[in-house]
Amino acid sequence: MKKYTLITGASSGLGIDFAKEYASNKENLILVARRIDRLNQVKSEIESQYDVNVLVYSLDLNDNINIDQFFEQLDKDIFIHRLINNAGFGYSGSFVDMKETHIKSMISVNIEALTLLTHKVLPNMIEHKTGEILNVGSIAGFVAGPYMAEYYATKAYVLNYSIALHEELKEHNIKVSVLCPGPTKTEFFDVANSEKENKMFDRFMMDSLPVVQKGISDLNKNKPISLVGLSNHSLRVLLKFVPRTVSSKFVGRIQKKSA
Ligand SMILES: NC(=O)c1ccc[n+]([C@@H]2O[C@H](COP(=O)([O-])OP(=O)(O)OC[C@H]3O[C@@H](n4cnc5c(N)ncnc54)[C@H](OP(=O)(O)O)[C@@H]3O)[C@@H](O)[C@H]2O)c1
Repeated sequence: MKKYTLITGASSGLGIDFAKEYASNKENLILVARRIDRLNQVKSEIESQYDVNVLVYSLDLNDNINIDQFFEQLDKDIFIHRLINNAGFGYSGSFVDMKETHIKSMISVNIEALTLLTHKVLPNMIEHKTGEILNVGSIAGFVAGPYMAEYYATKAYVLNYSIALHEELKEHNIKVSVLCPGPTKTEFFDVANSEKENKMFDRFMMDSLPVVQKGISDLNKNKPISLVGLSNHSLRVLLKFVPRTVSSKFVGRIQKKSA
């Protein structure tokens, strides 16, 4: 059996840094996203620097059938011993104005695909009595977010689902963490249609690499929740004391400005 780390959303942002970090640790990689040209670029960069195998697949996580087909075509001697459920996106704006295709797609990618991929890799991990799963949530998972309502809600799912699995899979020696970044410099805000400048987000914006490194370090330690940066730690503590109905008013004001 050859051990591989499967990383979703590896064509951009955090996903690329996850791929490079694990490659530098001599891990073989399976990288998936829709943009195969980008994945091939990441593959050749990594293979020119590190002595690891990198397999790339164009995979649209909008459709569960694609996930089934992806697993069917994988070599039988591949053991995915680590899954980084990183692919995800959000949309800014009032919910009523969102296109139905965007509404469905966000649930498919952020929730369904992450859940199904986990379900697919678990039997082998349990059989081998080892495995690691890192789900990329968001600090948004701790609050309700008017004007980005659906995105915040998908990340609340990721948070609770991951904490539950962390508990459930301990007895099988499988680590599960949820990484909850705050605003991070990636393509996320272009995709999210956050056209207007938002000084509030800019002030707390982090580089992608330290976010990824903290996620990997916390997964190694099997910490259930991985937070990075003083502002995110402070925000999480603050949110414990403020009712959601109150914090959502504050968040709504910030989100409305960038929508
Ligand atoms: N950046 C932030 O401020 C921030 C903060 C908190 C949490 N996060 C989370 O971090 C994760 C990574 O996002 P990022 O910040 O690195 O943004 P990004 O640069 O936009 O990367 C998103 C990745 O997801 C992939 N993806 C999107 N839709 C997909 C689909 N239908 N099928 C397959 N792959 C798909 C994209 O690949 P293709 O387009 O090539 O398919 C891309 O590789 C997301 O889960 C996001 O919610 C980001």
